This record gives sequence, C-alpha cells and structure tokens, in this order.
Amino acid sequence: MPLTHASSIAHDGDLAQLVGLRHKHFILTLQAGARFETHRGILQHDDLIGKVWGTQVFSHIGAPFFLLQPSLADLITELPRTTQILYPKDIGFILVTMGVGPGQTVLEAGTGSGSMTTALAYTVGPEGRVVSYEIKPDVQNLARKNLTRFSLDARVDFKLRDIGQGFDETEADAFFLDVPNPYDYTAQVRLALKPGGYLCCLIPTFNQVEKTLQALRQTRFAFVEVCELLLRYYKPEPARLRPTDRMVAHTGFLIFARRIEAGEDPRGKELSEEVGHREETD
Ligand SMILES: C[S@@+](CC[C@H](N)C(=O)[O-])C[C@H]1O[C@@H](n2cnc3c(N)ncnc32)[C@H](O)[C@@H]1O
Repeated sequence: MPLTHASSIAHDGDLAQLVGLRHKHFILTLQAGARFETHRGILQHDDLIGKVWGTQVFSHIGAPFFLLQPSLADLITELPRTTQILYPKDIGFILVTMGVGPGQTVLEAGTGSGSMTTALAYTVGPEGRVVSYEIKPDVQNLARKNLTRFSLDARVDFKLRDIGQGFDETEADAFFLDVPNPYDYTAQVRLALKPGGYLCCLIPTFNQVEKTLQALRQTRFAFVEVCELLLRYYKPEPARLRPTDRMVAHTGFLIFARRIEAGEDPRGKELSEEVGHREETD
C-alpha cells in the first residue's frame, strides 16, 4: 500500500512528493524506468527509488527538490478537482468526532472530487468499507481516478444515484453528507445508519444550517452540535512571530448528530429530551 509504506527508503510503487524552491511541489507514483518532467528539469524515477526520504535530489539541470512521503493532507490539498472539496482542517475534526476507525462502514454523499472519500478510505483501512453516492457521472469518474491513484479505490463502492432515491445500506457506523440540501435527506440517512451512528453535514450558509436543524429534529436525531473551525497559521520566525497575512475565513458550518432510539420507559423521557430527541414531529 504505497501511501502508508513504513520505510525510511523510497520504493518502486510508492507515492512520493517533490518539493522545490518557492514551495513548488509535485506528487508522483514512483515507477522503475519512468521519468518525471517539470519546468525545472527532468528526474529519473530510478534515481529516486532507493533514496532515503527527506533527502535532496536534483533534476538534470541541477534544480533541487526534497524527496518526501506525502501525508494525507498533501494528497487532499493537491487533488485534481471539479467541485468544492473538503480541506484537512475540517476533515480531521469530522473523522475524530464521528469516531471513524479501522473496519467500519461509512457512507458519504456526494462524492464530489473525492477529498473526503480519500480520507475516509484511508481511515477505515483495508478491512473497512466506504460507500459513496454521487449524482454526476463525470464527477464520480474523477473521484474514482483520484482514489485509484492513491491505491484506495478497492475500499470504496462508488454509486451513481440521486440520493433522493435513498440508500442501499443499513447499519452504517457513520454518514458524511455534503450536498447543498442535506435537510431533504435526513430521513433516508436515518434508515442507513445503525442506532447510535453519527451523521455529519457540511454546509456554507446559516440558512442551510437552520433548515437542517429543523429536519434533524423532525427525523428524531439527537446530540446535535453546530460548529465552525477557524485555522490561523503563523510565520515560524522566532524573533518575529506573528500570524501570516492571509487566512481562509470560512469553509463551512459542521453539524453533527446521532441516530438514537428512545424507548417507551417513562424513566428515560427526561434524558431523551435533554439530548434533543423529539418523539413527535413538528
Ligand atoms: C461539494 S461537492 C462534495 C465534495 C466532496 N465532499 C469532497 O470532499 O470532494 C457536492 C457533490 O454532491 C453532489 N450531489 C448534489 N446533490 C446530490 C444528490 N441529490 N445525489 C447525489 N449527489 C449529489 C454534487 O454533484 C457534488 O459533486
């Protein structure tokens, strides 16, 4: 599995990252006999295979590059895309909050360019499964290509469908819903999740959040949380430590919720209400 190859040396078949001057960087799969052409010259893969990760290599015209193993964040940030994608800032928090882990079954819609699909497939591991729904064939094709490049495609079932038609799966551990109108699908998502399973939606505007909160209430989700993550980078200069000049001010609001099953026992009523569960739909 190229992405997680635990070795200090670059091997044939590994994903590699070349980082040159002024942060110019490239991701490639090392292939014996192949060559990599950049406007800063040509590098033979055979000259990279067998090198220690983290060392410098040079193109045929002497341009320097560091040879590095790309992280999941590097892959996602560099992803060829035709849609808005998720970034590491939100992805990391979503994975941890929903408790996504090895061996799980996780559902997702829409696939988009496959940024979140990549992170989910990576995290559930070889024993896990990701089922990803997308309505547009060309978008799905690009996502499949992206996942194939990272050797993660075998962990993903790509399904081409308008999710208004529902999902084939039940008992999913978690569901990541990234479509403009998540509030239209919370009933279907509930059926696809196991009791206790997590839902996360990412939406950019307040209006969508409001509608989604109403829908979650109507479809008896509980433990609802709404948040937004702000990430600020600093210039790593010990003598002049200060924030960088630019920052991404807004990506989206995250809404988390869990499917719960409130029982009939009146002793549990107060707790059910405390976690936001409503028996009657309004
Ligand atoms: C913002 S993109 C998803 C980006 C993705 N999460 C990523 O990280 O790359 C939203 C996607 O949802 C798809 N979509 C929108 N409505 C849909 C529906 N009803 N059924 C299936 N897919 C849908 C769109 O075609 C689009 O590709």
